[in-house]
Amino acid sequence: MNFRKTLKINSLGHLEIGGADCVTLAKTFGTPLYVFDEEYIRTMMRVYRDTIEEEYGGNGLVLYASKAFSCTAMYAIAKSEQIGVDVVSGGELYTAMQADFPAANIYMHGNNKLPREISYALDCKVGTIVVDAFTEADLIEEEAAKRGMVQEVLIRINPGVEAHTHAYVQTAKPDSKFGFSVDSGAAEVITKYVLSKKHLRLKGYHCHIGSQIFEKQSFVLAVQKNLAFVAKIKQKLGFEASELNMGGGFGVWYAEGDAMLPPEGYRTYLSALIAAVKQNCAEYGLRLPRILIEPGRSIVGEAGVTLYTVGAVKEIAGLRKYVAIDGGMFDNPRYCLYQSKYTALLANRAAEPCTELVSLAGKCCESGDLIGVDMNLPEAHPGDLIAVLTTGAYNYSMASNYNRNFIPPAVLVKDGKGEYIIKPQTYADLVRNDVIPDRLK
Ligand SMILES: Cc1ncc(COP(=O)(O)O)c(C=O)c1O
Repeated sequence: MNFRKTLKINSLGHLEIGGADCVTLAKTFGTPLYVFDEEYIRTMMRVYRDTIEEEYGGNGLVLYASKAFSCTAMYAIAKSEQIGVDVVSGGELYTAMQADFPAANIYMHGNNKLPREISYALDCKVGTIVVDAFTEADLIEEEAAKRGMVQEVLIRINPGVEAHTHAYVQTAKPDSKFGFSVDSGAAEVITKYVLSKKHLRLKGYHCHIGSQIFEKQSFVLAVQKNLAFVAKIKQKLGFEASELNMGGGFGVWYAEGDAMLPPEGYRTYLSALIAAVKQNCAEYGLRLPRILIEPGRSIVGEAGVTLYTVGAVKEIAGLRKYVAIDGGMFDNPRYCLYQSKYTALLANRAAEPCTELVSLAGKCCESGDLIGVDMNLPEAHPGDLIAVLTTGAYNYSMASNYNRNFIPPAVLVKDGKGEYIIKPQTYADLVRNDVIPDRLK
């Protein structure tokens, strides 16, 4: 198998991540265990940050989309790399604030921000709130007026470009719970509305066209549509956007068939996007806006692996072999949700050739609790160590305590050494908020 830089097989035949032997990590911290390579995360942040610096004179900001993996250590890393973050809930914002993240570089998203979340965001002095509903504009106005302040905002627009993996579609369909459609005229109406508010300062627009995108042309097309809209609004309303936030969505390698880009390879997405901004601004006679991007998956996805111990192995003759692990949908629900593909290895015998196709089964009481089907592995036995690759994004952040299983702890590896960034849960954690009313005692 072709490995990215963070992974290698060492002389013992064990998988290493960031220079740390996975067998040693499993012995030290137990399984299931999320493991993250700090160097990979930082390298990805720097690639995006430096591209804006070098190709756009630094007139922009990379925001780590912290929904991909939110914990205090991640905000600490983003802070030290001098990038911003986006948050989508009061909980993510609170986590960022616990890491002393500079509030001015926080962008607050969400299609239904709760009144208490908006109030908390203003208390924290969050730099920018991305408006995604008329009611939100009203709420932010009200809360900002109460505090005698002006809140900077963007409007989330829907440019009619939707992209996933290798395909993109241009659609005039305004059917999305996110954003205001450019084609239907809704984006223009909300622009007028926000501009009429005394305590809101509109800086520009945000869009997010999809996820796991490998096709640069989708971003180029979205830039064209957004800037055509910016030019139209300038002409009709006299408002010229000074910020354009193009969201995230850059694809990562999960399994055979996906492109595997080295970190430097991600520069090309941003270069294409920057070139399109320059070209379209020149054509429309617009000032170059400050550019923002919000990569989540591409910063943290390939930086992570999950380690599991094999338990039961069950062969159903002529049908299927199930290899059961000590994790499952409670630490990685993505196969159950979207049939997402993953690659697994035997981390303790990583150099052995794959000889069978197995289904990796979780331990939850759900037949659908699988990490994947028809995964290529050497013959696995109870006690073997499985590593599932590219689990850094949307795994921990989507985890649950289903069946009252523990959400696994997370370890950050640096220079071959692992340290907890999320500690293990205990049984006491599981009942911490449970209450038995007196009448049931
Ligand atoms: C508004 C917004 N920004 C950024 C992202 C991050 O996308 P990705 O993790 O695919 O880079 C998302 C993902 O859903 C999003 O909704």
